[in-house]
Amino acid sequence: MDQVLVAFDLYGTLLSTASVAKALAEHFGEDQANSIAQLWRRYQLEYTWRLNSMKKYEDFSEVTRKSLHHALAEHGVSLDDEQADELMKQYDNLSTFPDVEPALKKLAANPNVNCVIFSNGTKSMVTNSVRSSDDLKPLGDVFKDIVTVDFVRSFKPAPEVYKYLAQRTQKTGAESSMWLVSGNPFDVCGARAVGMQAAWVDRQGNGWQDKLGGEPTAIVKSLEEVEAAIEKFAQGKL
Ligand code: LAC
Repeated sequence: MDQVLVAFDLYGTLLSTASVAKALAEHFGEDQANSIAQLWRRYQLEYTWRLNSMKKYEDFSEVTRKSLHHALAEHGVSLDDEQADELMKQYDNLSTFPDVEPALKKLAANPNVNCVIFSNGTKSMVTNSVRSSDDLKPLGDVFKDIVTVDFVRSFKPAPEVYKYLAQRTQKTGAESSMWLVSGNPFDVCGARAVGMQAAWVDRQGNGWQDKLGGEPTAIVKSLEEVEAAIEKFAQGKL
């Protein structure tokens, strides 16, 4: 197999954004915390898409902070600036999904695979996560690069951010040889739209429901299946 570039999405793929609910529960109790965490994530993504549509940009930490306040307000609660800062720090220490460690260790040992992180987060957010997250820190060496969209000032799934990934990894014109691994369907569609391959991580086993086109090259139930999917594709068996 030739060298393959594998770009891992961060939030919702390696790190569980739901894990921030633990910190929210200290303020609002478990049930409400789970509901706030879900709505927070939805607004966080919705804000990125709205900014893209308006051809505007605010960095992902601003988007994350504003969407937190939106989700809190819809639940009829609020936090002061200091408490919000504390929660934002949790974004540097989100938990990884349980399949992350074994899968990344396996991929790190494969000389044909070059792993990078590719995220909507700012360089500083993502670097902090990789350096400070108790779960991700020991796996930081697996990634040859951290590619973030703040340089392009646009968010996934804008084509220019995937093209920037190709450019950063010297793959412009060879997008079909690149892989995105993501738990976010909209991210998978974005990668497929520029001709990349994409593995969608369906941890819940619900199957692909997105109807906008751009189906994943492979659907995996765990990151541990990614290596086999890439090899199968290289052998023309996918
Ligand atoms: C990211 C978003 C999609 O990490 O969660 O890019």
